[in-house]
Amino acid sequence: MKIAIAADHAGIHLKKYLIENVKEVEFIDFGTNSESSVDYPDFAEKACAAVVSGEAERAVLVCGSGLGMSIAANKIHGIRAAHVESTYTARLAAEHNQANVLCLGERITGAPYAAEMVRAWLKAKFGGEGATAASLSRHQNRIEKIKKLEGK
Ligand code: RB5
Repeated sequence: MKIAIAADHAGIHLKKYLIENVKEVEFIDFGTNSESSVDYPDFAEKACAAVVSGEAERAVLVCGSGLGMSIAANKIHGIRAAHVESTYTARLAAEHNQANVLCLGERITGAPYAAEMVRAWLKAKFGGEGATAASLSRHQNRIEKIKKLEGK
C-alpha cells in the first residue's frame, strides 16, 4: 500500500521514524525535511493531493500537535482526516469514520506508540470486527452525510 506522508518543521523526526519503522507500507515523502519553519497547510495540501489523485491510498500528516494538519486536511474535498492520540482512536478512525488521512503530533506522542497508531489504523477494516450489513450501512450512511457537507 502506498501512503503519502508529510510534516511541517515540528514533525520531521516522527515522519522519519515512521518511514524507517513502518515497513509494511511504501511511504511517498512530501517533505518537509528540515527544521526551517514552514506552514503546515502547504504540506497537508501536498500529501492530500496524492490521495485525491490516487497516487497514494492514504496519507499520514505530522505537525507539532497534529491539530493544524487535521484542520487543513479536512478542508480538502475527498479527505477525511483524523487527529488521533491513541491506538484505540486510530482504529476507530478506520472502522467508523473511514479516515483516509491520519494526523499525529510529534510533541504529543512518542514515536514507537505513533507507529503503533499507524499500524492500528492500517489494519482496521471499515465497520470493524463482526460488522453486520446493518452496522456497515449505518456507518456508510454517515460517511455519505459527511460527503454532502463538503458541498456546503
Ligand atoms: C508549529 O510550531 C506548530 O504550531 C505546528 O506544528 C502545529 O502544532 C500546529 O497545529
